[in-house]
Amino acid sequence: MARIVGGIGTTHVPAIGKAIAERKQKDPYWSPFFDGFDAVHGWLARTRPDVAVVFYNDHGLNFFLDKMPTFAVGAADLYRNEDEGWGIPVSKALAGDAAFSWHVINGLVADEFDVTMCQDMLVDHAVTIPMALMWPGEGGCPVKIIPISINTVQHPLPSVSRCLKLGRSVGRAIESYDKDLRVVVIGTGGLSHQLDGERAGFINKPFDTLCMDKLASDPEALTRYTIPELVEQAGAQGVELLNWVAMRGALTGRVAELHRNYHIPISNTAAATMLFDNIPVAQRKAA
Ligand code: DHB
Ligand code: FE
Repeated sequence: MARIVGGIGTTHVPAIGKAIAERKQKDPYWSPFFDGFDAVHGWLARTRPDVAVVFYNDHGLNFFLDKMPTFAVGAADLYRNEDEGWGIPVSKALAGDAAFSWHVINGLVADEFDVTMCQDMLVDHAVTIPMALMWPGEGGCPVKIIPISINTVQHPLPSVSRCLKLGRSVGRAIESYDKDLRVVVIGTGGLSHQLDGERAGFINKPFDTLCMDKLASDPEALTRYTIPELVEQAGAQGVELLNWVAMRGALTGRVAELHRNYHIPISNTAAATMLFDNIPVAQRKAA
């Protein structure tokens, strides 16, 4: 059966792509952020996942305001990126696992999540930047991806509670897949940031710290925030936290925080990286 080896949360700021292209990882501006990935690289080398399920939000590359699904799941064997206008290189296409995607979609629909199914889907910086951060270097990304997009762009957005339940449903679907695959679950975006309007540049470190703590120990606690409260606390784009919440929901075992990095700012964003172990409950009982 497929097994969830852990979860990772990471910021997806496009400027990271430019820093990678210009090899600025060790520059003083960038190193506090990139150095935070050393622990993630070590863990990925040890756990060797085959598949990454990626909760993210599309920013207008594949979906636009005219047609915006609340939840959409990729069901393709290949996902292309295109120029989004950020001035960063277009990424190489990422491999998918359509059969596994369909299994996840079946599980979600059985659980009454009536998702949009996408056999053809472009993935934007919210997928490509995290992949480049996790698997740097010429070899590219060695895992197949299952992209799951959550609308964090056009209101009304799904609630925190709904996203936690979406994650839990995805977690159950992964672990009922009849293939010996190791799966890492990723949530991208956040943490606090606002790119436009009067509060452009808004960052809220106390709230980010609280979110990271609750993601580790008590994700249910975050469901007390309504979407307007989340916008108030995290900024208009800080609601990308929903992707992290879904990632955390998908961790089915006993969850242990292995690593966290938080650095202000990267571009306009409070940049955060978190790594979670997902220890199977049966293994815990045996120990
Ligand atoms: C930035 C952050 C984002 O999450 C995004 O999607 C685009 C830009 C930024 O801080 O520049
Ligand atoms: Fe974003």
